[in-house]
Amino acid sequence: KPIVLSGCQPSGQLSIGNYIGALRQWVNMQATHDCKFMLVDLHAITVRQEPEKLQEATLDGLALYLACGLDPEQSTVFIQSHVPEHAQLAWILNCYTQMGELNRMTQFKDKSQRHANNINAGLFTYPALMAADILLYQANEVPVGDDQKQHLELARNVAERFNNLYGDVFKIPEPMIPKVGARVMSLQDPTKKMSKSDDNPNNYVGLLEDPKKILKKIKKAVTDSDEQARIYFDQQEKPGVSNLLSIMSAATGRSIDELVPEYEDKMYGHLKKDVAEAVVTMLEPIQQRYHEMRNDREFLNQVMKKGADKAREAAHQTLADVYKAVGFVQYP
Ligand code: AQP
Repeated sequence: KPIVLSGCQPSGQLSIGNYIGALRQWVNMQATHDCKFMLVDLHAITVRQEPEKLQEATLDGLALYLACGLDPEQSTVFIQSHVPEHAQLAWILNCYTQMGELNRMTQFKDKSQRHANNINAGLFTYPALMAADILLYQANEVPVGDDQKQHLELARNVAERFNNLYGDVFKIPEPMIPKVGARVMSLQDPTKKMSKSDDNPNNYVGLLEDPKKILKKIKKAVTDSDEQARIYFDQQEKPGVSNLLSIMSAATGRSIDELVPEYEDKMYGHLKKDVAEAVVTMLEPIQQRYHEMRNDREFLNQVMKKGADKAREAAHQTLADVYKAVGFVQYP
């Protein structure tokens, strides 16, 4: 089976963006791929996190992964920091990544503007860690949204550079681009993506939020201020309404073409109420399973251990090959 690797940052509560754009698709990949899914806590600390919150968000994220349908028997589900090989390989790849390459990364530019008081070296070399995540497992495919394409391209370049020097140590990973419409936009600013670490909580819907709060946030969502207040799908002209229609489509499994005629003569308020209901219905079973698992620390520990052990087996082999390739003396 082709190997697939992906992860979410426990940098806040996972959002419906993470679910619709990533998690839900991961669940379906499990049957056809050898999947490695992690919570990337090493990446999360490139932005300052409160230690207690990071811990909670990581455990919440793990329980949510399982609640959404990731199966720790079938897939490798783990916490990134439990597999030290990620940090070890990242160091080495740092030495094969050029400053100039990292300087071109648009996410670094964005994030260093948003976190101007903490532009740390980790934020800058984030793509080298991401390359390590992928290359450690010899992943064939990496599901990536638009925003991560540039990082994956860098990982491919670094892997090729390394292979050219030392032989075929790394598999060159291919991007797996999700279907259109898999991008959920911010509720208050529908021209940018929904982010779980957004300063304004009205911009996102967390997977664990209660129905009343979800309804409130969606009711407040920005719609478009053209004169007719009509409902139709056009991401340029009507980003807010189009985002709501996309969310509705993702939550109900009905196509946009099917939904539009139903709403074209209705008011924004009507659409919003139905979107909120659809989201609540989508989240209900996930939240229920989450609550069953989140308090069972024994079970979560088992999952974490099993996942990390499986991951380390694969990671260890690659790291040993890399150490040999660069000329490190083998531990006797
Ligand atoms: N709004 C979104 N629409 C579709 N997919 C999304 N993903 C994230 N937001 C959306 C996908 O979720 C996976 C994990 O993302 P991540 O947690 O590693 O980091 P991110 O992309 O930076 O997500 P956030 O929520 O915006 O995190 P913060 O706020 O911490 O930077 C990825 O596959 C991503 O494409």
